[in-house]
Amino acid sequence: MSIIYRTALITGASSGIGAVFATQLAAAGSDLILVARRREELEKLAQQLRSAHGRRVEVIAMDLAKPDPGELLAEEVKQRGLEVDLLVNNAGFGSSANFHEDGYERDQRMIAVNIAALTELTHAFLPAMVQAGHGAVINIASAAAFQPMPYMSVYGATKAYVLSLTQALWAEYRGRGVRFLAVCPGPVDTPFFEAADSGKLRQEIPSAVMMTAEGVVSGSLRALQRDACVYVPGIAVKLGAVMPRLLPRRLLAATMGKVMNRR
Ligand SMILES: NC(=O)c1ccc[n+]([C@@H]2O[C@H](COP(=O)([O-])OP(=O)(O)OC[C@H]3O[C@@H](n4cnc5c(N)ncnc54)[C@H](OP(=O)(O)O)[C@@H]3O)[C@@H](O)[C@H]2O)c1
Repeated sequence: MSIIYRTALITGASSGIGAVFATQLAAAGSDLILVARRREELEKLAQQLRSAHGRRVEVIAMDLAKPDPGELLAEEVKQRGLEVDLLVNNAGFGSSANFHEDGYERDQRMIAVNIAALTELTHAFLPAMVQAGHGAVINIASAAAFQPMPYMSVYGATKAYVLSLTQALWAEYRGRGVRFLAVCPGPVDTPFFEAADSGKLRQEIPSAVMMTAEGVVSGSLRALQRDACVYVPGIAVKLGAVMPRLLPRRLLAATMGKVMNRR
């Protein structure tokens, strides 16, 4: 990376894409604050990165679905004497089910993590970036953001929110030294599918389409360097992102219903 971010706060750093962001950012010269619920996983990664790269790596174990994660994290970061100039809002999860069979409790947690926490954390850390005229926010959306996602309806809707918010903020903060990037991957080989109870979906995804977290993260960091607004990794997903712009919404939803219906 040619722009070096001094301190990156990464949510969902205990596995998958978030852990790879931590690894690549430490290698590029950033200090890190790693956030997720599983403290042990975070501590293990932190220890590895401290010894491999000699960076300061802090761990904050927190459930982002609980109230006021932005305020609590900002306070914790301040107490440790750190200032965040790169926020990676990566924590998130999906669910694969018929809407009426999946209770509201899970949807509520999904909205809390995928939408509310991401928005609150941005509120918590953006003002200092604006004041300094330097900083960046990477929000992990998904290819699911481009069209309705029957059988993963709430997940798709949360990611459409992330994409829309990030594009708007990219335009709002242009020229003020703060960059925004929405990352919209298709399937990535991480524990995401187990967390979403969609092992079957995972098996049906052709391996040619499945990306590695390493490829998604290195592409995202390059996209941030060129001040891209949206990064869609991989040619297949880029092509897939065009279809929703061409089809009438009704036809698009019905087609996605057929694609996603595995019951
Ligand atoms: N894998 C894919 O195919 C794919 C495709 C497009 C977009 N994405 C997006 O990429 C992001 C990362 O997912 P991944 O693929 O890397 O899956 P993952 O390995 O399951 O990682 C999800 C991360 O989110 C954290 N998390 C979940 N709920 C949390 C909560 N309540 N509080 C704090 N942290 C929480 C998890 O940590 P703890 O369990 O330790 O809390 C974990 O570190 C997600 O936003 C996902 O929607 C994934």
